[in-house]
Amino acid sequence: MDYTRLLSLLLVFCWFCASDALSGKGRGFVGFKDPEDSGRYIVDQAASDTLKSRLTTVFYPIIYIIVFVVGLPANGMAIWVFLFRTKKKHPSSIYMANLALVDLLFVIWMPLKIDYHFSGNNWSYGEPLCKVLVSFFYGNMYCSVLFIACLSVQRYWVVAHPLSQQRKNNKLAIGICVAIWAFIWLTTIPLYLYDHTAKLKDPNITTCHDVNMINDPINPFASVQLPYYYFIFMGMVVFLVPCVVIIVAYVLLLRALGNTMENSNASKNRRKAVVLIVVVLVTFVVCFIPSNIMLVLHYSLLKDGEVDNGYSFYTSTLCLASLNSCLDPFIYYYVSEEFREHVKNTLLCRSSRTVERMRVSFSSMKYSSKNKSYMSNTGTTQSSTC
Ligand SMILES: *[C@@H]1O[C@H](CO)[C@@H](O)[C@H](O)[C@H]1NC(C)=O
Ligand SMILES: *[C@@H]1O[C@H](CO)[C@@H](O)[C@H](O)[C@H]1NC(C)=O
Repeated sequence: MDYTRLLSLLLVFCWFCASDALSGKGRGFVGFKDPEDSGRYIVDQAASDTLKSRLTTVFYPIIYIIVFVVGLPANGMAIWVFLFRTKKKHPSSIYMANLALVDLLFVIWMPLKIDYHFSGNNWSYGEPLCKVLVSFFYGNMYCSVLFIACLSVQRYWVVAHPLSQQRKNNKLAIGICVAIWAFIWLTTIPLYLYDHTAKLKDPNITTCHDVNMINDPINPFASVQLPYYYFIFMGMVVFLVPCVVIIVAYVLLLRALGNTMENSNASKNRRKAVVLIVVVLVTFVVCFIPSNIMLVLHYSLLKDGEVDNGYSFYTSTLCLASLNSCLDPFIYYYVSEEFREHVKNTLLCRSSRTVERMRVSFSSMKYSSKNKSYMSNTGTTQSSTC
């Protein structure tokens, strides 16, 4: 049922994008320096229309509100469960805790982005905060892909080598996580090296990361050189390599599970693995694959100074990419029993203490049916107020 809701949301989104593209809007978003006012940039009519359109000022902020409302509590709860409520730490809970932290660090900036789009794509928080937002967005994207790759390899490892030492694996997992964080902090540095905010003439707004500024119309590549090399590298290496690792891990995982079919536990393991693969697949098809293809395409077109006809499609894929923070909790749900229990209890509006009390009173009820003197113990279950 969650998938049907997601699918209908996607359909609405595609309709928005298609209607936008068909109406002739959404050409290239390059701003050329205003000859009369060197601080301002001029965009063409199509870009100006798209910046005022409902797609960017109504639909994007609605997506970001969903990301904030779902992503903040779900990832917050995940961190809490993996840190304090998971007694036996596994490498998978270490990777998932890190994935949840990455998502949380991205989701907390959503209010600024929502405000930006609701005020007509007008960024009023200054260049430094825009840089932070952009780098946390891309940091989140590539960091998530890397942690999902680690988790996938780990799932395969558990099935293929069930007797490997837990403690040694945990140390390795922590080491890998530290390396990934260091790598991501390093690779977001280029995003701080060029300006993302552009003051436009018409509409009279300041955009954040939406308009690429071209300072010299004769030689446009000089102005987009850094982002061009950056996104080509990130798309071709930091995205594609983990993708291949994930595909190999799942092929091996399914094959390893297929070899142990006689075992009664195997069919349960197999179902769990298939659900995990489906969730990861949905995350990639919705969030990571379209945005990375469009990023590479967009900057390749910009490099040659060509007009990008699919601009609104490109920004839409970036908007969809932010949904990964809401989809990752589904991964925790299917991998971690503790997280699943906590989600169920929260949705059913009861605290774990109430569950414990219910268990106690249930056992005392069973006891009292044999022994009437314990009757007073029954019915003490209090419903918690949420
Ligand atoms: C955009 O924001 C700036 C600064 O916050 C404000 O002065 C300006 O009036 C806004 N422009 C529009 C079109 O809302
Ligand atoms: C644009 O807005 C700024 C302040 O936000 C204002 O000073 C400037 O005069 C406006 N320009 C036009 C052309 O309306």
